[in-house]
Amino acid sequence: MKGLILAGGLATRLRPLTWVTNKHLLPIYDKPMIYYPLESLAKAGIKEILISSSPDHAGQFESLLKNGEEFEVKLDYSVQENPKGGIANAISLAEKFSNGEKIAVILGDNIFNYDLKPTADKFNKKDRGAIIFGIKMPEMESKHYGVIEIDPHGKVISIEEKPENPKSNIAQTGVYFYDNRVFDFIRQQKPSGRGELEVTDLNNFYLKEGTLECDLLDWWIDAGTSHDELLRANNLVAEKVRLGQF
Ligand code: G1P
Repeated sequence: MKGLILAGGLATRLRPLTWVTNKHLLPIYDKPMIYYPLESLAKAGIKEILISSSPDHAGQFESLLKNGEEFEVKLDYSVQENPKGGIANAISLAEKFSNGEKIAVILGDNIFNYDLKPTADKFNKKDRGAIIFGIKMPEMESKHYGVIEIDPHGKVISIEEKPENPKSNIAQTGVYFYDNRVFDFIRQQKPSGRGELEVTDLNNFYLKEGTLECDLLDWWIDAGTSHDELLRANNLVAEKVRLGQF
C-alpha cells in the first residue's frame, strides 16, 4: 500500500499565519504539522508516500523533508492546482503514483497517535474495500464533520456529510484506506452543493457495495480548523509528550 498526505488548500481560517506559510508547516509543539501524518504512515509500514501541496509551497516541503530518508520512506511531491476541488479530487491526482496499489490517505492537519499498522496489515490482505477511521466526540458538532453511524457489531450503516441531525456521535476523521478502484469511483462522482468532490460521497460507494469498514481512533485533532484548535493541538501534544504517551 502506498501513502498520500493531502497538504494543499488555502487555510484562510488560519490567516495571518498562512499568508506566506502553508498551514501544514506550522508548528505543533516541537515539530512541523506535516511530521505527524508522515510519521503515522511510516509507522504503519508504508514505504512510498506522496505529499500533495499547493502551488506556492511545494518547494518548501521538499526543502524540509527531502527524499524522506530521515523517516525511512521514499517521498514524492505533487501540486494540487485547484485547492477547492475537494478531498476526492485531491486523491484522484495520485492515480499514477499509486500504480495499481492500495492507498492510505491522511489529511495533513490530522494529529493522532493511533498505531495504524494492525489495520494496514489487515487491509493489505484483503482483495478490495475501504477502511475509514472515526472518532467518538463528547459533543457532536456535526456542522464540521461527516457523521458515521455504526451498528452494535461495528458495521457502518450510514455516513452523512455535515448533517443537521447527526445519527451518532462518531465523526469521520481524515484517515482513509482505499483499494485501487478508488479512482474509478471518483470518476463517477459529481460535485456537492459546496462545489467539491466529497470524501463522504466516495466512501458511500464502498458502503453501498458492502465493503466499507470503520475503525475508531482513541484521540484525534483536526489542528488546521481554527487558531483555537491549533493552540489546543500544541498543548495536547506537549502534554502527551511530557507524559510519555507520544
Ligand atoms: C472533511 C470531510 C468530513 C470530515 C472532515 C475531517 O471536511 O468532508 O467528512 O469529517 O474533513 O476533518 P472539510 O474539512 O472538508 O469540511
